[in-house]
Amino acid sequence: MSAKERIDLSKIPSHVCVIMDGNGRWAKRQGLLRTIGHQNGVKAVRDTVEAAAEIGVKFLSLYAFSTENWKRPRWEVDALMDLLVSSINKETKTLMDNNIRLTAIGDIESLPSNCRKNLQEAIQKTAGNTRMTLIIALSYSSRWEIIQASKKIAEAVAAGRLSADDIDDSVISANLSTSFCPDPELMIRTSGEHRISNFMLWQLAYAELYFTDKLWPDFRKEDFYEAIEDFQKRDRRYGMVQEQTTD
Ligand code: IPE
Ligand code: IPE
Ligand code: MG
Repeated sequence: MSAKERIDLSKIPSHVCVIMDGNGRWAKRQGLLRTIGHQNGVKAVRDTVEAAAEIGVKFLSLYAFSTENWKRPRWEVDALMDLLVSSINKETKTLMDNNIRLTAIGDIESLPSNCRKNLQEAIQKTAGNTRMTLIIALSYSSRWEIIQASKKIAEAVAAGRLSADDIDDSVISANLSTSFCPDPELMIRTSGEHRISNFMLWQLAYAELYFTDKLWPDFRKEDFYEAIEDFQKRDRRYGMVQEQTTD
């Protein structure tokens, strides 16, 4: 029986996020340039998007480029931006065929203009699609996002539109770039690193974390389904005791 067949379709997490890591090491192991690793990561993106849509995941977030990744050597950053443009152009048709909406979170203004343009076109084109929303985190970091949210909330308080006493969980959530979707229930990170690297710090408060040693270019549908299967075995308690949370 495959991992997909073992999945309980009545318990699919509505939002799954993925830290796609290990492209550089994948390339290095074969004596290739890091950029070749990034190119080979595109197939893993396609497989993951298809796998998620097939079992009814509603929101899939992929961490593609962090605020900190700007500090990488210029040639690698340029290659990643070029790859982003070519992948968006190539994959938009697949997104349309599969009824998947594309959206992006992060400091989109900081991206090169051709990147921004292609991204915005793909977002507009797929805006009416309803099967799943694919959220690409680009030039994203959670601390950056929380700072932006804090500024918006401070401005609302200063303008008298909000009282400081009314700031609660929902006000913070509503001011984050993920305000349109539920918090992720499952976070997957590839490449054997056990850290969050500034990704969705607020939103991951009660997410189940799943780490695999697979390097991102080797990640396939079956690996995604294994993560879902593992998630479904977890006992999620949200601070309570088991008897309160099991039905
Ligand atoms: C993930 O792979 C892709 C990005 C962060 C853009 P890495 O490039 O981080 O690969 P490793 O971690 O060096 O192997
Ligand atoms: C996290 O991977 C960012 C993305 C996957 C886009 P990194 O490779 O940049 O993270 P660190 O440096 O291992 O923490
Ligand atoms: Mg890495």
